[in-house]
Parts: sequence; structure tokens; C-alpha cells
Amino acid sequence: MTKIKNICCIGAGYVGGPTMAVIAHKCPDVKVTIVDLNAERIAAWNDEDVNNIPIYEPGLAEVVASARGRNLFFSTDVEKAIDEAEMIFISVNTPTKTYGVGKGMAADLKYIELCARQIASVAKNDKIVVEKSTLPVRTAEAIKNILDNTGNGAKFQILSNPEFLAEGTAVEDLLNPDRVLIGGDNDEDGQKAIKSLVDIYANWIPEERILTTNVWSSELSKLTANAFLAQRVSSINAMSELCEKTGADVNEVARAIGMDSRIGSKFLKASVGFGGSCFQKDILNLVYIAKSYGLNEVADYWEQVVIMNDHQKKRFATNIVRTLYNTVSGKKIAFLGWAFKKDTNDTRESAAIYIADALLYEQANIAVYDPKVEKETIYKDLDYLESRESAQNKKGVVVFENSYEACKDAHAIAVLTEWDEFRTYDWQKIYDHMKKPAFVFDGRNILDGEKLRKIGFVFQEIGK
Ligand code: NAD
Ligand code: UGA
Repeated sequence: MTKIKNICCIGAGYVGGPTMAVIAHKCPDVKVTIVDLNAERIAAWNDEDVNNIPIYEPGLAEVVASARGRNLFFSTDVEKAIDEAEMIFISVNTPTKTYGVGKGMAADLKYIELCARQIASVAKNDKIVVEKSTLPVRTAEAIKNILDNTGNGAKFQILSNPEFLAEGTAVEDLLNPDRVLIGGDNDEDGQKAIKSLVDIYANWIPEERILTTNVWSSELSKLTANAFLAQRVSSINAMSELCEKTGADVNEVARAIGMDSRIGSKFLKASVGFGGSCFQKDILNLVYIAKSYGLNEVADYWEQVVIMNDHQKKRFATNIVRTLYNTVSGKKIAFLGWAFKKDTNDTRESAAIYIADALLYEQANIAVYDPKVEKETIYKDLDYLESRESAQNKKGVVVFENSYEACKDAHAIAVLTEWDEFRTYDWQKIYDHMKKPAFVFDGRNILDGEKLRKIGFVFQEIGK
């Protein structure tokens, strides 16, 4: 068995950064080097002030500070890190394809292939290559094909080790995961490679929570886990619409069903719709894979989760327009929250982007406040949709650093992220400075409706 002394991770993003920082923190005798093509990102990871690292996650700065410069390094020198490492994690992005065959559905594996080719060209000795990115089932086969044709005699073992962390709780999830999943080949070399990785995690994770499988089960389990999680959100959101029509309360329904231990209480919060870089991408990828095997019923079944999510976002925006007397033209709508969930600065696929887009079509003036998201990110998110000229987005959306200022003179407020601080605001003060009637649309069901109605707000929430 190879005792791992040097790890390289390609991709210093939301997964590579926190995952490797925790490995370095927990395994002081293993040198961990995280590399990325994005020099700006690497510079931010190396920033003298650890609070300036590029990803906001509770507890991450402390973990990075504990290991950086000791056995944790961030670099743009990809080749050197590959050369030195016995184990290489691939943690690059695998977005939905935006061109060619599978456009809008399949995972774009060009970054994965580039990594494999770079490893192939640099490696002079045997390496264990670990898929950390979320990949279509059987990707390891393609990676192996590329690596086995290097012509330099090096041997490679491919492991699948998907990551289950959720943003906002990444450090806690990594320190104390429900399970770690490692897939590898069944032959002797495969089992040895698995054992090398098990030994890394065993430094802080009880062995019974380290699950080993074959490669294909591991790859497919990751897509399956995300599909099941997203399905729960779409299921409760579907019920939220029915609740609104029938006088049932979605929070009460969620509580009632969640107490059934077969169903469980987690992941049953009705919302304006799930966001994040992965749920939609991974389900569409699953749909594409199913279709490519001719499994159309399987594909349709999972696609419905995304269709339902789009519907939930759309109906939230439509409801705002309808409630504001069928026009929001020239009206100020304040957004509390832009991130796709609380405790992260990540905005990828955030529901807020689509709500803003829909309201901009209706000529609303949008004022955004988010405690962690940068102004440039918000404009970039809107420009990415290509719905209108960039200048129009800048004209229609103003970003505030102070939430009370964002809400001042607004006709309505939409709560789009469940940041804790929103609950503790002086809502009377906010009401006093808004146009009347003052509307609040709580897309996260976090505010105290009774209190807000007493103040005078017209208050609407999801599923009630
Ligand atoms: P990300 O975009 O934050 O980071 C990916 C990084 O890889 C980028 O910084 C990019 O510059 C770099 N990169 C791309 N190609 C490269 C190359 N050839 N050489 C060096 N660097 C390269 O992405 P992420 O959110 O960290 O996601 C990475 C993978 O992990 C995806 O497959 C995703 O589905 C999966 N995943 C993400 C999460 C999450 O919470 N974000 C959780 C579990 C799994
Ligand atoms: C999700 C999974 O939870 C992770 O296990 C997985 O590793 C990750 O995707 C990934 O593969 O990227 P993440 O997207 O970071 O993690 O965050 P979640 O907590 O799952 O939330 C996703 C979205 O669903 C958010 O917009 C959240 O607000 C929404 N959500 C979640 C609800 O609307 N209701 C809920 O009950 C739970």
C-alpha cells in the first residue's frame, strides 16, 4: 500500500479549497498542495489576511490558518504539484454543457479531460487519481483511457470519492460527515489504492463511516444523493402551492410528515426554489444519462424535479406582480438576500437571479442587500442570463450595503435568502420608511408573520 505523503488537488474552488484544507488540518504529516489556473483565486487563498480567502464558510478561515504554510499550500504551478504528488484529486468544475450535443443537459467534462491529459503528460511515476468532482457514471473509464496512453510507463489507479458537503456548513460537514464514499477497482491494486485513501480519512473519521464500493456505484451514488435531496425540496414546494389553495399550512404539513421516521424531518423547508451550482446541473446530467440509455421514463421522472423548481420561482415572481395591482413598473422592490442559501457568498443558480430577471422584465426597480455577496457578482449573475444589455441591468438593479437603506421607500420587500439577521431587524422602522401599503413576500418562511401583520405589513409567505 502506498503511504501518502504528498497530495495535489486540481481546482481551488468551493470543494477543493475546504476539502483539502480540512485534510491538511487533520493530517499534519501530509503535504497538501491545491492548484488552480485562476491566479487571482490562488492569490486570494494566499492573502496574508486569512479573512480574505475567496470563499466564505463559517470556520474555514480558522482551518486554513491552522495549516497554511505548514502543510497546506496554494499554487498556480499545476505541473510541479502533479509531479510531486502520489495522490491527485480532481476537483474542477463540471458545469452543464452550453454548446453541442447534450447542450443544456449533459455535464461538460472538458476541464476533467484537460486535467487527465495534464496528469498524463507530467507523471513520471505511479499515481492515484481521485475523482472529487461530481461526474457522470463511467467517467473513470474515460480518465483511465487517457492516462493509460501516456506512453511513459507510469501506472494509474482511479478512485471515485464524491463530496457531499453542503455550502454554508462545509467545514462542519467535512469534520463530521455522515459518510465518506470511496469507489475503486476490485482487483488488488484497486483495493490498495482504496486503502491509501481510507487511511487519510481515518485520521479523523470513524472507519464505519468510510464506505467503499466499486467505482460505478460511487459515481452514481453522488448523482442519486443530489437527485433525492432536490426531489424532497420540489415535493414540499409542490405541496406549498396546494396549501395556498386549500388553507393548509406547509410548515404544519412538513412537521406532520417529518415526524414519520421513514420520511424524516430534514430538507422539507418550502422555499422560493432551490438554487446552488449542483442540484439542477446534476439532475439534468442524470436525465441526460438516462435518455442516452433509452430510459425515457426514468429521465422524465427526474426532470420533473427541475420543472417543479422552475415553476416555484416563476410563481413567486408572478405573485409579486399580481399582488402589487398587476404592475411593478417603476416600483422599488427590495431584495433581502441574493445568495442561494444562508452562510455562503455563492450565488450560482440562486432563485434571486431569476426573480430579479422576471421583475426587470416588468420594469421594476430592484434594490438588493446581501450580507456576503459582492456587487460585481450580482451584476455578473444577471449579465450571464443575456436577457438584456448589461447597462440595463445596472440601471434596474441597485446594490446596497445597508439593508435599511435598501428597504427605504420600497413598495415591497422580497426575502430570498434565509440569513439569520433578517429575523432580528427592526421591522417597525422598516415599515415606517416604506411606501404604503407595504408588502413583504417571504420566500423562505423565516419572518414572524403575526408580528409583521400587526405592524401593518401586507405579509405573504410560501405555502400558507
Ligand atoms: P468551482 O468552480 O468553485 O471550482 C473549480 C475550480 O477549478 C475553479 O477555480 C477553476 O479555475 C479550476 N479549474 C478548472 N479547470 C482547471 C484546470 N484544468 N487546472 C486547474 N484548475 C482548474 O467548483 P466547485 O463548486 O468547487 O465544484 C467542483 C466540483 O465539485 C463540481 O463537479 C461540483 O459538482 C462538485 N461539488 C460541488 C459542491 C459544492 O458545494 N460547490 C459540493 C459537492 C460536489
Ligand atoms: C447540496 C447537497 O446538500 C450536498 O450534499 C451536495 O454535496 C451539494 O449539493 C453539491 O453536490 O453541490 P448545497 O447545494 O451546497 O448542497 O446546499 P443545500 O443545503 O443542499 O441547499 C440547496 C438549495 O436547496 C438551497 O437553495 C436551499 O435553500 C434549498 N433548500 C434546501 C430548500 O429550499 N429547502 C430545504 O429544505 C433544503
